[in-house]
Amino acid sequence: MTHGSSAVGDVDLRHHGDREVGDRLVDLAVNVRGPAPGWLLAPVVEAIGSLAAYPDARPATAAVAARHGRPADEVLLTAGAAEAFTLLARGLRPGADVRRAVVVHPQFTEPEVALTAAGHRVERLLLDPADGFRLDPAAVPDDADLVVIGNPTNPTSVLHDATTLRRLLHPGRVVVVDEAFMDAVPGEPESLAGQADDGLVVVRSLTKTWGLAGLRVGYLLAGASLVRRLAGVQPPWSVSTPALAAATACSTPDAVRWAEQLARQTEADRARLVERLTGAGLRVVGEPRAPFVLCHHTRALHLREALRCRGFAVRRGDTFPGLGPQWLRVAVRGRETTDAFAAALVEVLGDVLGDALRDVHGPGA
Ligand SMILES: Cc1ncc(COP(=O)(O)O)c(C=O)c1O
Repeated sequence: MTHGSSAVGDVDLRHHGDREVGDRLVDLAVNVRGPAPGWLLAPVVEAIGSLAAYPDARPATAAVAARHGRPADEVLLTAGAAEAFTLLARGLRPGADVRRAVVVHPQFTEPEVALTAAGHRVERLLLDPADGFRLDPAAVPDDADLVVIGNPTNPTSVLHDATTLRRLLHPGRVVVVDEAFMDAVPGEPESLAGQADDGLVVVRSLTKTWGLAGLRVGYLLAGASLVRRLAGVQPPWSVSTPALAAATACSTPDAVRWAEQLARQTEADRARLVERLTGAGLRVVGEPRAPFVLCHHTRALHLREALRCRGFAVRRGDTFPGLGPQWLRVAVRGRETTDAFAAALVEVLGDVLGDALRDVHGPGA
């Protein structure tokens, strides 16, 4: 285990995929699937007509609760999943409520940033690439009273099974499962969102699958007393009326079916991407289950730079604890984009390997 540090130590934990995308680059760096569909934007736009009134979160809270089969007092709407991490970090006081916080890496870095900013001392549990970044719950120290893990995990694309995650639950421990990408897994078989266990907090995002990153909307699901406590540290009216309208619209049975269909399309698109990446000679981690894949190449950073020159942005891996310059994360896109990207990748690999041979054998190689 290693210790996290705030600003953010050895790697820039505040580096996100959006910083990788310039004006003219094709974006395979950000994990938002695409623009929001028209039927979802309609109620968001309509809500603009009510902007003179303060937001009322109750209808959206009821809709999200119904979608997950939970009582409304076990739901807290948030300004994206990111706000949920901040509320957890502030609502669970360092020392008083949390003595040993463990963040399972590699994963999305904002939970660690939020915890550190709130005064928690964060320990990192680094999963091993040799195990395909899979979790052995026994590796989490018994006295860890706060554990944060992503499922499916960004950036590894690993989907942990629900049984494994449930083994993390202990009396006196809060387990936070970041399910920001769970709605991209058809049927959500490993989701814990519907389960009301003591100490379990599930964080969901509505910004990825639904194309609403700029709107800021998500929620957390937890026991009623923990929800009350986290609501107590949330700024008033944190989630705007249009964002609440989106949460309601994303929670209907039709919307859930729409997401399921998109998730199936994502599976097919991802299979194509994996085939292209491995065909080009990159190693893809395990069996990816999220709308992005993590891959390994000894000259990954060179590849990333060369791909940028050819108009494609992919996410660097070296700002994730537990990864390094040999890792890249590539977003799943439609067939045309994937094929164009793959063609550029093959060319770039030829150039990079040519350079490497010249380094070894000299200019005549
Ligand atoms: C795994 C994961 N969780 C949470 C978030 C934050 O999501 P939101 O936009 O809902 O704040 C991200 C954003 O990239 C993410 O990758």
